[in-house]
Amino acid sequence: MKKKSQRSRKSSTCERELIVAPSLLAADFTRLAEETKRMEKAGADWLHVDVMDGHFVPNLTIGPPVVKHMRKTTNLFLDCHLMVSNPRDLVDDFVAAGADQITVHAEAITRIVPLIKKIKAAGIRVGVSVKPKTSEKVLFNILDIIDLVLVMTVEPGFGGQAFMKGMLPKIRRLRKVFAGDIQVDGGINAQTGCMTRKAGANVFVAGTYIFKAGDAKKAIQSLKE
Ligand code: DX5
Ligand code: ZN
Repeated sequence: MKKKSQRSRKSSTCERELIVAPSLLAADFTRLAEETKRMEKAGADWLHVDVMDGHFVPNLTIGPPVVKHMRKTTNLFLDCHLMVSNPRDLVDDFVAAGADQITVHAEAITRIVPLIKKIKAAGIRVGVSVKPKTSEKVLFNILDIIDLVLVMTVEPGFGGQAFMKGMLPKIRRLRKVFAGDIQVDGGINAQTGCMTRKAGANVFVAGTYIFKAGDAKKAIQSLKE
């Protein structure tokens, strides 16, 4: 297995590479290693890992032990999206498990700067996410210390929901003030992905669209066209 420093961390601040991150939430959880390999072969850039605690969102998924096992089976960049009320309590475990990026929700934490610094100090990338009803303005004082902003394009908690078109202006406003990666998550397919890309997004998370597609490779490519 490659070391952390050797793994691809495709991202950009200048030319803004397009990154596709299949969301494992739509995978067959009884065959995670195979599903991960399938995404590798299909050309995934990152693997998006949705972590839900049954409190911040009304659903429960996976935690650090699963990420640790996945780390042994893949070199893919592991993009961990923490939909949890206490991200501070989990960061060390996710870092130890081999996460390449940790994204926390702005709504989950009041003193976010020390947490951002802690994640950065662990040598991995950090993202901050906003739910649909949260203004991007809450991020303005931290934009220069984070790598990625995740704009939720559905209410977090479940896969397979419809894309919220109303998030496009938020992406446009953010792109004017943020040079890092803007990720979109929820209801992303070729059509909605294209809308978000025009608005300024460059990292596309898609669960249902990629995992349930007959041809995952084609689906991934369509998000880059
Ligand atoms: C929702 C999760 C998403 C979800 C997206 O809370 O953060 O990553 O898996 O699923 P689709 O692409 O099916 O909307
Ligand atoms: Zn997600």
